[in-house]
Amino acid sequence: MPSDRAFYITTPIYYPSDLPHIGHGYTTVATDTLARWHRQAGDDTWMLTGTDEHGQKMLRAAAANGVGPEEWVDRLVNESWQPLLEVLDIANDDYIRTTQPRHIERVQKFVSDIHERGFIYQGEYEALYCVGCEEFKPESEIVIGTGEFEGVPVCAIHSKPLELLKEQNYFFKLGEFQKKLLKLYNDNPEFVQPESARNEVISFVKRGLKDLSISRSRFDWGIRVPWDETHIIYVWVDALLNYVTAIDYGDDSPEFDRRWPATHIVGKDILRFHAVIWPAMLMAAGVEVPRQVFAHGWLLVGGEKMSKSKLTGIAPSTIVDVFGSDAFRYYFLSAIDFGQDGSFSWEDLNARYHAELANGFGNLASRTIAMIEKYFDGAVPTPSDYSEADLAIQLLVSKVAKDADAAIEKLAISDAITSIWQIVDELNGYITDQEPWVLAKSESDRARLRTVLYTVAEGLRALSVLLSPVIPKSTAKLWNAIGGEGSVKHQPIRSAGDWGQLKAGSKVSSLPPLFPRIEQDETTN
Ligand code: MSP
Repeated sequence: MPSDRAFYITTPIYYPSDLPHIGHGYTTVATDTLARWHRQAGDDTWMLTGTDEHGQKMLRAAAANGVGPEEWVDRLVNESWQPLLEVLDIANDDYIRTTQPRHIERVQKFVSDIHERGFIYQGEYEALYCVGCEEFKPESEIVIGTGEFEGVPVCAIHSKPLELLKEQNYFFKLGEFQKKLLKLYNDNPEFVQPESARNEVISFVKRGLKDLSISRSRFDWGIRVPWDETHIIYVWVDALLNYVTAIDYGDDSPEFDRRWPATHIVGKDILRFHAVIWPAMLMAAGVEVPRQVFAHGWLLVGGEKMSKSKLTGIAPSTIVDVFGSDAFRYYFLSAIDFGQDGSFSWEDLNARYHAELANGFGNLASRTIAMIEKYFDGAVPTPSDYSEADLAIQLLVSKVAKDADAAIEKLAISDAITSIWQIVDELNGYITDQEPWVLAKSESDRARLRTVLYTVAEGLRALSVLLSPVIPKSTAKLWNAIGGEGSVKHQPIRSAGDWGQLKAGSKVSSLPPLFPRIEQDETTN
């Protein structure tokens, strides 16, 4: 059932200066799950991800590896960043690289547009710069270093020394947008979410905004300022624009009108760029601001943000190779409240994998199918009269489907999963209570047995549809095994709770364990 709603969602574009870790994977699977949900609901959905390939950080990474920046980004993007999408089973619609001509041309167009509209001027600047963040740091984010960098000012995020830069640059009149931005946050409380992120942004903007230096002239790995060939565009301005260049900004193309405005999913480390600078840039160009900016928390290691530069990064494939991509997706999206920080541990992943996926969900699916095979020759039985216990399941399925959709609407992915998981738990309890293996012993309980197994099979039908955005691979297998028609990812998700969609008589087929048990030594590498 197509809806007339457009849903355009983006991940940040990642720096391919280094290899991806599970923090990057986390943002990407969250975004993908939201996109899959909306696509399955029939919304006109578009998911964009990509890589942020210019700037000093990239130049230094390439130099440290003895190659030029083009070669470095091509290698990392082709060998690691794009393959990551397959590793995590991401169904993105587009992938943008900031080195692509489509991006470069449109960035130049946008910057010229705001120049012509009077929002850019030339000036001089001296301040402390963090190459890790690619940002001049405000005082509140400068701390005094310890250990190796004892006594020197360092970046609060990267713990590395800052560099004093003095340049003749072009500036964007960000300072002029303070009032307009505060009005935006006030008129549209959903613009920045969650609430903690919104409060942080508001108090930052209330403290006053300085104009932003948007060009560099000391190195040339970037997009040329169109009216001054001696400058390149600041990497963050270049990067933020990906969200509109990928949908044909400035080309008078119907694509832009069809997609824009976007929902941006970002880590809280880059919230300010997205919730302050980005809408101000758009306002300057006379373009509508994004629909929403949602900041999720960090994956922590030892209480600190996991990062490659601190050598705490874990490659997503180390988890996927053992547990599979569905388990990766399920674990991070259910165990961490979306918007809060969370710590990863192998023990927790292993425990949840076995308790929730293998024993809770996988086992429910296998034993239901095995019973339909055994008692009904593999054909989903026709239900007879429904008892109170059966009706309670129907009511739950209907309520969960509504609650989960409402949670996704608020980007509360973990709440949606918690809600859906009630069906898993209730169905397991229902089987224990109804004891179909006892009913199977007597011919007089045949009608009751049909109703019980139909109820569980139909519950599994709803579960596969509702969980398909989160765990696409195993729900596709389950869907086929219960004899579902077509593919599960095309089943309308907003009517997943309507009872009775699984056709009696559908042929089930045996299902190898969806989440096989994993031996201890495989998880301790
Ligand atoms: N290139 C910029 C973004 C430009 S968007 C216009 C950038 N890249 S990044 O590769 O350093 O990080 C991108 C995103 O990865 C972060 O915002 C965040 O979403 C995610 N994460 C990186 N480390 C993370 C954790 N330790 N935990 C959770 N997410 C993390 O910033």
